[in-house]
Amino acid sequence: MCGIVGYVGEQQAVEVVMDGLRRLEYRGYDSAGVATRDPDGRLVVHRKAGKLVNLEKVLDADTPAGTLGIGHTRWATHGAPNDRNAHPQVDCSGAVAVVHNGTIENFEALLAGLEERGHAITSETDTEAVAHLIEERYAGDLAETVRGVCKDLTGSFVLVVTHRDAPDVVIGARRNLPLVVGLGEGENFLASDVTAFIAHTRTARVVDQDQVVELRRDGVTITDLDGNAVDGETFTVDWDTAAAEKGGYRFFMEKEIQEQPLAVRDTLGGRLGADGLLHLDELAISDEDVRGIEQVFIVACGSSYHSGLVGKYAIERWTRVPVQVEMASEFRYRDPVVGRNTLVIAVSQSGETADTLEAVRHARAQKAWVLAVTNTVGSTIARESDAALYTRCGPEVAVASTKAVIAQIVAMYLVGLYLAQLRGTRDPDEVRAHLHDLQQIPDLIAETLTRMGPIRALAGEIAEAKRVLFIGRHVGYPMALEGALKLKELAYISAEGFPAGEIKHGPIALIEPGTPVVVLATRHALSAKLVNNVQEVRARGARTIVIATDGDDSAAPYADHLVRVPDTKSLYAPLLLIVPMQVLACEVAKVLGLDVDQPRNLAKSVTVE
Ligand code: G6P
Repeated sequence: MCGIVGYVGEQQAVEVVMDGLRRLEYRGYDSAGVATRDPDGRLVVHRKAGKLVNLEKVLDADTPAGTLGIGHTRWATHGAPNDRNAHPQVDCSGAVAVVHNGTIENFEALLAGLEERGHAITSETDTEAVAHLIEERYAGDLAETVRGVCKDLTGSFVLVVTHRDAPDVVIGARRNLPLVVGLGEGENFLASDVTAFIAHTRTARVVDQDQVVELRRDGVTITDLDGNAVDGETFTVDWDTAAAEKGGYRFFMEKEIQEQPLAVRDTLGGRLGADGLLHLDELAISDEDVRGIEQVFIVACGSSYHSGLVGKYAIERWTRVPVQVEMASEFRYRDPVVGRNTLVIAVSQSGETADTLEAVRHARAQKAWVLAVTNTVGSTIARESDAALYTRCGPEVAVASTKAVIAQIVAMYLVGLYLAQLRGTRDPDEVRAHLHDLQQIPDLIAETLTRMGPIRALAGEIAEAKRVLFIGRHVGYPMALEGALKLKELAYISAEGFPAGEIKHGPIALIEPGTPVVVLATRHALSAKLVNNVQEVRARGARTIVIATDGDDSAAPYADHLVRVPDTKSLYAPLLLIVPMQVLACEVAKVLGLDVDQPRNLAKSVTVE
């Protein structure tokens, strides 16, 4: 949420910073800005409401020179998304420019004090307070000034700061939110994530909690807030810029949907031993402690929550350990009963979602074991958990999650099978058979992707609907939720997902003649009951779109539209059922002329509670 870039080097800073912002735009896109220090020693600031393209036009007309710069793409928290509230925010004298991700909770008190002391406040942002505090306190050492200011801030922040009188340096600081350093030759970078600088360097360094970075052309110094030098952990990014490009597709989402067979393959890769069993070396919780687990909580938000729901079915089935799945934003506030016998699985593509991070912290404070399932190596949730199981699906850029969700669901199966293997609740041969089946999934997803013609043909019809319902039973239910979420977030159509058995208890009242109802007809013990539910909605005038597995004809007679996916074990059906729903939402958004990759009001990484 909010993307930040800082650069000091030999290239024209505005080009490097804008290139970085383009790659970070998924983090927020309601306004953007850059500040550069020009060769005459002036700080030049450009800010513009709207997507980055608006700022690009401003910069095309008036391109600032200089080899040091900072930039920001915003998801508004304090103050409307207009030019005035866009970042960088500046002080009274125009000497300080600050970009910020996060929320400064004590900003009102800080601003009141600043106003009393004569500062003119010109925006509605919390960030502006930081610019004025730096203005007041700067005495020649910008890093020291920022360290002091950070001590007076409460809340969460990444700050990147430049000062007209500190010509060679950009300062970064972080608390609770992500900031990484890119280490180049004769140039260095700061960014919210590595995608911003991988075109220049793949060597990165983690910045930890309450640390301040001094970024210069020829070196980087990281200290704690007291100025003590700390060693940042350096790592190499193992994917390249091509992975973060559109590769000929119009939208990232289309590319990421097509990448799903590879995402599953990569998430499984290297985790199956020669004995056909699972080897999750990264699960740094001892076998004895894993055996001692008596309950599991899965905490997550958005689409990741739906992956968690699938995880519940799998883990309970294979291990007989009770599993609760909880929206991360609710978890800690209801004081859940967790302790040393509890495994909390935090599912998060970004590894930075504030609600999930706080749930992790709460769980650890209660002494629970915490396993992160995340796509982002070195992310805060990964680092603050006892262990991390990485979904290895490469960068996901489209705001609506697709390949990351599929990879998370696979990771959930892996956790379930691993627990079963270790606790002896499933026979090794059965575990082997499941793993063998999972290895067939990439080909089945690829096959599913070839069958999307009927879904594309439906997009125009769905685009005209007032509301759309999604129903499913068993693991079809989480996928109904995911289908509805996708349509809501991409096409802005009112959509709800329900357990098919529940619609008669209320939602059926929503059905009018012509209301589209998407039915996720997995082949399982409940399919006869699901067929009854389809008949019930059809009798009330619904138009039914039935997504059924090959060979299952039970719901076909009641389908206005029938879409087939390949057959697989019913527990794995989500990995195939999800595909037509992703394609449907994407195609409907395209028909409506909407921005598929950047839906309104959303951000990919939500780092505020
Ligand atoms: C945002 C995104 C969703 C995502 C959710 C959780 O709301 O728009 O697509 O599912 O955050 O993100 P995470 O990174 O924790 O999986």
